Amino acid sequence: MPAFSQRFELALGQRKASGLNRQLSAIKDGNQARMSYNSNHWVNFSSNDYLGLAADKQLSGHFQRGIELYGNGSAASPLVTGFSPAHAELEEKLCGWLGYERAVLFSSGFSANQALLFSLLEKGDDLLQDKLNHASLIEAGILSPATMRRFHHNDAKHLGKLINAEQNTLVVTEGVFSMDGDQAPLIELDTLRSQNCWLVVDDAHGIGVLGEQGRGSCHAAGIKPDILVVTFGKAFGLCGAAILCDETTGDYLTQFARHHVYSTAIPPAQAYALTHAVDLISTQQWRRDKLLELSQYYDNQFKHCDEFVATNTPIKPLMIGDAQKTVELAQTARELGFWLTAIRPPTVAKGKARLRITLTANHSPEDISALANAITPMLTRN
Ligand SMILES: Cc1ncc(COP(=O)(O)O)c(C=O)c1O
Repeated sequence: MPAFSQRFELALGQRKASGLNRQLSAIKDGNQARMSYNSNHWVNFSSNDYLGLAADKQLSGHFQRGIELYGNGSAASPLVTGFSPAHAELEEKLCGWLGYERAVLFSSGFSANQALLFSLLEKGDDLLQDKLNHASLIEAGILSPATMRRFHHNDAKHLGKLINAEQNTLVVTEGVFSMDGDQAPLIELDTLRSQNCWLVVDDAHGIGVLGEQGRGSCHAAGIKPDILVVTFGKAFGLCGAAILCDETTGDYLTQFARHHVYSTAIPPAQAYALTHAVDLISTQQWRRDKLLELSQYYDNQFKHCDEFVATNTPIKPLMIGDAQKTVELAQTARELGFWLTAIRPPTVAKGKARLRITLTANHSPEDISALANAITPMLTRN
């Protein structure tokens, strides 16, 4: 058996040889529409800051006020002394906004999803997940004691065939798929719910962006899943997550969700800022209007390319297919002043590599036409 460092070197070598190696860059202003690194400058089409709140001065003011009121860290896990009035206000705010009895806070969407599937499921339960669900959900499903099966992407008919009425079943989907920007058929999925078949929607990419007052994919579709996961690292411009549910499930998670019980609570100042982020999101409709306008502008600029995929969200994939070609295109775009992410296996399936372009309310139509002028000559015209 190879020693640890030999094993790691082998894996790193294989990753490099397959062209799938990734690199960290200490980017200045990565949370803004324009960013720089080593005196190079780019228009940033890679962040998930859909509403442009990550560097918003008004939100920074609330964060600073939160620090004045509550200090820096929470200093403990929630059931010890880490839960403050700021956390309680945030939970109440989320419940009122989204129409749930309880909200349970987590330090990331990844930990919320893991906690949810680990604590709710038992051996003998069925877990049915959309094939393209986020890594945090798929990994938690594999490690959970339940029997996990994956239904074809956005295929409610296939899901219907997998549901066993005798079995406790959790159906899990994203509201907006992070790498494709398409939306789950929530109305159809909702009809498959029953007393022992619960629907869970992870709306990391829909919350804030879709629905009246930014209440997300489920509100836009007119459904209320049994459990809703929202994350704060995208449209909220901060980080963290919450699971929204009924009273009993909230009590259960508070007792048994290990990522909640055994992990330091988010800083109270962050909870304070998040409460204000809900106000900004729900009252500043202009941010969603601007995104819609930019989205239509993007469609007009790119719809003549074979790689274009129409979406009703700010996530705009350009489907390239080959991983190496995708990396080369991203690199050329970078040299021309545009930062796009090359999404490759294992994040997406082999042969499905793409450029993932994301729009934010801080972009301008000129940013998009400049991008189109730079990269459409490298794409295929239909
Ligand atoms: C659908 C989905 N769920 C969960 C997460 C994880 O959220 P976080 O970044 O807060 O850990 C992500 C992150 O990209 C995501 O896309």
